[in-house]
Amino acid sequence: MVTIKAAGLTKRFASLVAVDNLNLEVEEGEIFGLVGPDGAGKTTTMRLLTSILDPSQGEAWVFNKHTVKEAESLKESIAYMSQRFGLYEELSVIENINFYADVYGVAKDKRKDSIDRLLGFSGLMPFKERLAGKLSGGMKQKLGLACSLIHTPKVLFLDEPTNGVDPVSRRDFWCILYELLKEKVTIFCSTCYLDEAERCHRVGLMHKGKLLRCDTPDVIKNECNVKSLEEAFISIIKDYESKQPE
Ligand SMILES: Nc1ncnc2c1ncn2[C@@H]1O[C@H](COP(=O)(O)OP(=O)(O)O)[C@@H](O)[C@H]1O
Ligand SMILES: [Mg+2]
Repeated sequence: MVTIKAAGLTKRFASLVAVDNLNLEVEEGEIFGLVGPDGAGKTTTMRLLTSILDPSQGEAWVFNKHTVKEAESLKESIAYMSQRFGLYEELSVIENINFYADVYGVAKDKRKDSIDRLLGFSGLMPFKERLAGKLSGGMKQKLGLACSLIHTPKVLFLDEPTNGVDPVSRRDFWCILYELLKEKVTIFCSTCYLDEAERCHRVGLMHKGKLLRCDTPDVIKNECNVKSLEEAFISIIKDYESKQPE
């Protein structure tokens, strides 16, 4: 089943085309990685797919919900962890999770099990009384993820969730994502780390608003005849730039 679909999706900010005619399908249970340099259009793509922004042209559907016409019901089945996810530093771990449970309207009598489960698999159980402001960077990201998941979304959008996080915590974070896949959650994740892109089922390379390449990491590397995604992406971007008019 196709969970995320974009057809000619375009977003302009005045004369700048931040997302340029994006066509994409992501299957249920897939972990899709969006990679690209700063300013490529990754965050704007996420905002279009999560109904935060309306497209200038084109359409998108998430879980068969139209991002413009069915924005409200779409938001119930998704979670979006933005680059600056709002944790309350002066609240404890458990208070933050309860706060988001309130925001998402998770019934008080139903939340204990899911909170225990989220604290369990994020490894935050021993820290549940700690103030969020006192957590390490990696733990803050795990708490952000736990808060995003409190309403058991079917599609998870993560915008550079491990930016600035140490390598060990990044690996832990990805283990959590793989656990989520077992529950058929679809994950759409942007990252600037190519070792993380390697862990995705498929990756899309975005550059100047355009999706230049989209396939499995192995296919992309084979086509470029290189060993790493980094080399592949550099060669794809160079090739694209060499074909642009002066
Ligand atoms: N609200 C906005 N108004 C004007 N320009 C914007 C806005 N949001 C993003 N942009 C521009 O769109 C381009 C893509 O930005 P963004 O989607 O944030 O890229 P990325 O997440 O890949 O770094 C950038 O040139 C950025 O400056
Ligand atoms: Mg961004």
